[in-house]
Amino acid sequence: MPTIAVLGSVNLDIVATAATLPAPGETVTNAVLAQHPGGKGANQALAARRLGAEVSLSARVGRDGNADAALNLLRAAGVDLSSLREDDKAATGVALIAVAASGENQIVVAPGANATLTPDVMILPAADALIVQLEIPLETVAAAAAAFTGFLALNLAPAAALPPSVLARADLIVVNEGEAAFCGEAIHAARGLVVVTHGAKGAALFRQGVKVAEAAPPKIVPVDTTGAGDTFVAALTLALLEGRPPETALRFACAAGAVTATRAGAQTSLPTRAEVEAILTP
Ligand code: RIB
Repeated sequence: MPTIAVLGSVNLDIVATAATLPAPGETVTNAVLAQHPGGKGANQALAARRLGAEVSLSARVGRDGNADAALNLLRAAGVDLSSLREDDKAATGVALIAVAASGENQIVVAPGANATLTPDVMILPAADALIVQLEIPLETVAAAAAAFTGFLALNLAPAAALPPSVLARADLIVVNEGEAAFCGEAIHAARGLVVVTHGAKGAALFRQGVKVAEAAPPKIVPVDTTGAGDTFVAALTLALLEGRPPETALRFACAAGAVTATRAGAQTSLPTRAEVEAILTP
């Protein structure tokens, strides 16, 4: 079973589901409120675990009740949390999420303890692969990229500028369209694979700037796309570690993301491997 270490964020997601998303300055009412465990790091860790990997999560939370709510699904699934620490001063990260009937979302994150995951307190367990996203300090991402010697997957979400040397070190970079536009050509300097996701239209895989594979997800009716990108990153990393050819791995990741979008919440909607295999072979 491949081992995956995830270095990243833990949030408690406060979700308001309404008919439409508000435009700037607009108030939308009649929303239904819910609370789910989230955070891109935690979501990717749980997604990889549900899909069959041995997973550890390196992260920081506050010493508060939100931490328990944010971690309960990870604990229940057997994600190794021995590299997770509580911060005495900062609160557990919170994400305020608005979800529309179309499944689209808007997210505002108050990082809290995620912002205290600095290089001096970073713990990197041994693993076949390390997955990192950008909801923690960028200097920590750079330090992890320099220290880790296995397969490095970088999910440049939310979009931020990383030094070229960090991008060049990655074996896999995953970005959505907006993040790809933000990064420009810099991402194609990576020595490994670059994947650009296009939501319901699928994803394309590049090697040194040349497209070598593409895949489309199965048709689904979206309920909530929160966490679909995180599932995609975890599924793609795991499938590549398992030695699947890039095109097959891309199809698997698209299908895993699609299943996630059919259910509400981030971690509450992450699929098992059996669910992904089922939607791939209807
Ligand atoms: O990628 C989805 C995640 O982004 C949510 O769970 C939220 O916590 C934000 O970090």
